[in-house]
Amino acid sequence: MSYNLSAIFSQPLKPPLFEPGEPRFWDDPYISKSILKAHLDQNHDGASRRNDEIEKTVRYLITSGLLKTGDRILDLGCGPGLYSSRLCIEGMKVTGIDLSLRSIDYARVQAEKDGHNIDYVCADFFDINYEGNFDAVLQVYGEICTFSEEKRDVLLSLIHRALKDNGIFIFDVSTRELHTREGLKNRWYLSEGGFWRPGRHLVLEEGFDYPENDTWLNQYIIVDEDETVKVYRLWLHDYSFETISTTLEKSGFKVEQAWNSLSGELYRKGGDWIAIAARKV
Ligand SMILES: C[S@@+](CC[C@H](N)C(=O)[O-])C[C@H]1O[C@@H](n2cnc3c(N)ncnc32)[C@H](O)[C@@H]1O
Repeated sequence: MSYNLSAIFSQPLKPPLFEPGEPRFWDDPYISKSILKAHLDQNHDGASRRNDEIEKTVRYLITSGLLKTGDRILDLGCGPGLYSSRLCIEGMKVTGIDLSLRSIDYARVQAEKDGHNIDYVCADFFDINYEGNFDAVLQVYGEICTFSEEKRDVLLSLIHRALKDNGIFIFDVSTRELHTREGLKNRWYLSEGGFWRPGRHLVLEEGFDYPENDTWLNQYIIVDEDETVKVYRLWLHDYSFETISTTLEKSGFKVEQAWNSLSGELYRKGGDWIAIAARKV
C-alpha cells in the first residue's frame, strides 16, 4: 500500500481506530532485519526485554510453579526464541511461532547450535489450530495490546482452544500510565539509512491518542527518495487490571495471578505493565 505525497493530504489527519497501515512490518524483508537486531540489542528494550530481565522472568515462572519441567509450552510471537530457548533448557517441550522468517531462522540456527529440540514455526498466530495440546501459552511483551477488541477476542479463543483443560495463559499488557508517561511522538528526521530503510529516507513520526478506547497509535510515514510514501501504524490498546480481567472472563479464563512484570514484581495500581497468569476454566 503506497501513496504518492499528494495522497497524504487527502487523508484524515487522525486515522480511524485500528485502521491498518502497511500490511508488512514484522515480516518485511528489510525491516525484519532491523527488528532482529533490536531483539538482540542489550542497550535497549525496543523489541525484546534485555537478557537479565528475560532470565529473571523464566526463573520466576518456574519458582512460582506456573511452569515446570515436562510442560508443553506454546510461545506465541516467540521472536528469535529468547524465552523458548531458556524454557527448553529447563526441560520444557516448546513450540515457538512467529510471523518473522528472519527471527525464526535465527532461532532455528541457535537451537541447532545449542542442541535444543524446539519446534519453531514461521506462521501467523491467527492461523493456529491446536486443540488441548499445551499446558501453557506464553505471549510476552504486550503483543495482545496490538489488536482491536474484535481481533483480540479471536486470538483469545484460539489460545483457549490450544490449552489443555486447566492450562495457563501467561502474558503482559501495557497500561495507560506507561503511554501517558512516554507522551505522544511528534518528530521528523532525514536518515541516511537505518531502521526503516537501507538508503536515504524521510521519517514523519506522529502519535495519536484515543482516550475513550484506551488506545494509542504510533504512526510512521516513510518517504523514499523516489517520493514513494508508506504509512506504518503500530496500534496499542492499553488495559487496567479491571479491563483485562473482564476481557479474560468473557473468553473463558480466570485471572489467577497479576504482577507488574512477568519477572514477579508485586502488583500495584499505576504501574507501566500488568503481567497476568490466567487459567482456562
Ligand atoms: C514485541 S515482539 C516480542 C517478541 C518476544 N515475545 C520477546 O519478548 O522477545 C512481538 C513478536 O510478535 C511477532 N508477531 C506479531 N504479529 C504476529 C502474528 N500475527 N503472528 C505471529 N507472530 C507475530 C513479531 O514478529 C515479533 O517477533
